[in-house]
Amino acid sequence: MKVTIVGAGNVGATCADVIASNSIASEVVLLDIKEGFAEGKALDIIQTSTTLGFNTRVVGTTGNYSLTANSDVVVITSGIPRKPGMSREELIGINAGIVKEVSNNILNHSDKAIIVVVSNPMDTMTYLTLKSTGLAKNRVIGMGGALDSSRFKTYLSLAISKPANDIQGMVIGGHGDTTMIPLTRLATYNGIPISKLLSNKTLEKIASDTMVGGATLTKLIGTSAWYAPGASVGYLVNSILNDQKRIIPCSVLLQGEYNQDDVCLGVPCIIGRDGCEDIINLDLNDIEMVKFSESAEAVRRMNQSL
Ligand code: LAC
Repeated sequence: MKVTIVGAGNVGATCADVIASNSIASEVVLLDIKEGFAEGKALDIIQTSTTLGFNTRVVGTTGNYSLTANSDVVVITSGIPRKPGMSREELIGINAGIVKEVSNNILNHSDKAIIVVVSNPMDTMTYLTLKSTGLAKNRVIGMGGALDSSRFKTYLSLAISKPANDIQGMVIGGHGDTTMIPLTRLATYNGIPISKLLSNKTLEKIASDTMVGGATLTKLIGTSAWYAPGASVGYLVNSILNDQKRIIPCSVLLQGEYNQDDVCLGVPCIIGRDGCEDIINLDLNDIEMVKFSESAEAVRRMNQSL
């Protein structure tokens, strides 16, 4: 199985590293426009293979799309990351042109690939990719919900001092500081509702910390995060390539689900070999539904500015 990662910056290179070192694919191609950059990152990653014990081939290239031919999955991370104080939405002008060009180049060489969009503003970039390529909606998946959910579950596990892997929880809605919806009501500690273990005030604090999870890191590091984004992409790509059919919150085109139409937004998806194979319709309460429609409106406004 072959995966191409476009963009060899912090997020792209970490995606390549996670996919290679966990043997999720047999070949990873890392592509960037900066001369020699992807080649260097690929070489650095491949030099870990003897110590970590993996056999994934990792190839770097400066813009040679022919090396990406016949990829099963393509991850688009290209574009600029945000700086402290910036919202993801402020990146739209530059990133829209890049993402459009990249997705069309990719399809010229891999006409069957499933495309995973990471570039920000992610929901709008997913919508743009879908519209500019004309691909079927199952083949264009925005990665944001997996990352936001991992941040949500981490904060929950810290609050109850229990292992993060014993926490189940999801963040749906947009991948934006004000559009995310951490579903505190449905989160559990191995089936025990979290709401029985934490006060409302703590849950509200965890929800708001989750929503600004990316911004908090940007402020601390000076640019946007990469370990958790890279790991979340690896998790998503693994579910696609190995047809795991995991439920992962992803940004996909809604056509009536959750009362929304013609917008890409985070919802729980069944992720398998065909990409987003199904959307799970959660039984949201009135408050959650209102938040979801506000989130959809905000993303729709952003889409209109394209
Ligand atoms: C973040 C970026 C990748 O949330 O959107 O860290």
